[in-house]
Amino acid sequence: MTTRKNALVTGANKGIGRETVRRLAALDYKVWLGARDAERGETAAQALHDEGLDVEWLALDVASDDSVAAAAKTVAARISSLEVLVNNAGIAPGYVEALGPDGRYQRPPSQEDIADMKATYDVNVFGPVRVTRAFLPLLLASPAARIVMVSSYLGSLARASGSQSPNVMGYGSSKTALNAVTLAFARELAPHGIMVNAAAPGYTATDLNAHRGGRTVQQAAEIIVRLTTLEPGGPTGGYFDENGPLPW
Ligand SMILES: NC(=O)c1ccc[n+]([C@@H]2O[C@H](COP(=O)([O-])OP(=O)(O)OC[C@H]3O[C@@H](n4cnc5c(N)ncnc54)[C@H](OP(=O)(O)O)[C@@H]3O)[C@@H](O)[C@H]2O)c1
Repeated sequence: MTTRKNALVTGANKGIGRETVRRLAALDYKVWLGARDAERGETAAQALHDEGLDVEWLALDVASDDSVAAAAKTVAARISSLEVLVNNAGIAPGYVEALGPDGRYQRPPSQEDIADMKATYDVNVFGPVRVTRAFLPLLLASPAARIVMVSSYLGSLARASGSQSPNVMGYGSSKTALNAVTLAFARELAPHGIMVNAAAPGYTATDLNAHRGGRTVQQAAEIIVRLTTLEPGGPTGGYFDENGPLPW
């Protein structure tokens, strides 16, 4: 059993998740790099390890009860507490295909596919619920654990009610649900000193949007890392970007 501070980031073999792993490892956490695919996960972890960082691949498909349970068992056999959990894994099926030549999202809600929406919710909403529940004993064993849910501006109902926001029903509403899940866990876990917040990383160049986003993964990881390192007494049950609180 190690006494180091431990962090777990889901969906971390690439994109914002991988950069979050790098940042947390640089802050001296041992970081478990969650990834569903062995080759992609091991390759990403090895590359960060080669940078001198304490990073280890953890097999973790957030859409699978069995995979999440097995991952929690593996980690619990190795460490006695988890200080940071970042629920980052996310999907947006059909999003890239719905982008027009000008980069604007063009698919109306009435044409969204229900199967895609169910898959999106399974990863983006039930994934964080599964993982948070499975790792709760380890999080409770930490004196002041931090949980960050990687949300999106598209989860904000306040923004969606303005005409400027793209009308992305499945993905956007999954992040609205994730915001509600964030608040629910924050209320339950506050008496245990666990702070739970949602982060909006901004429109970032990753595979999720065929690299159409204007921000870098370094910029995106900023608010996520900040919410993992909140001092006791800081906010919980909130929704933030790097400039401060966001309207739900
Ligand atoms: N990029 C943006 O503009 C943006 C904006 C707001 C919020 N976000 C959010 O940021 C988070 C990271 O997205 P990203 O932009 O970095 O996208 P990305 O590069 O496509 O990375 C998504 C990650 O999630 C993983 N993943 C997907 N399904 C999974 C599952 N069932 N179990 C475990 N891992 C799974 C992917 O693994 P595979 O390689 O195996 O598919 C990948 O590692 C997501 O929650 C996304 O919604 C992104």
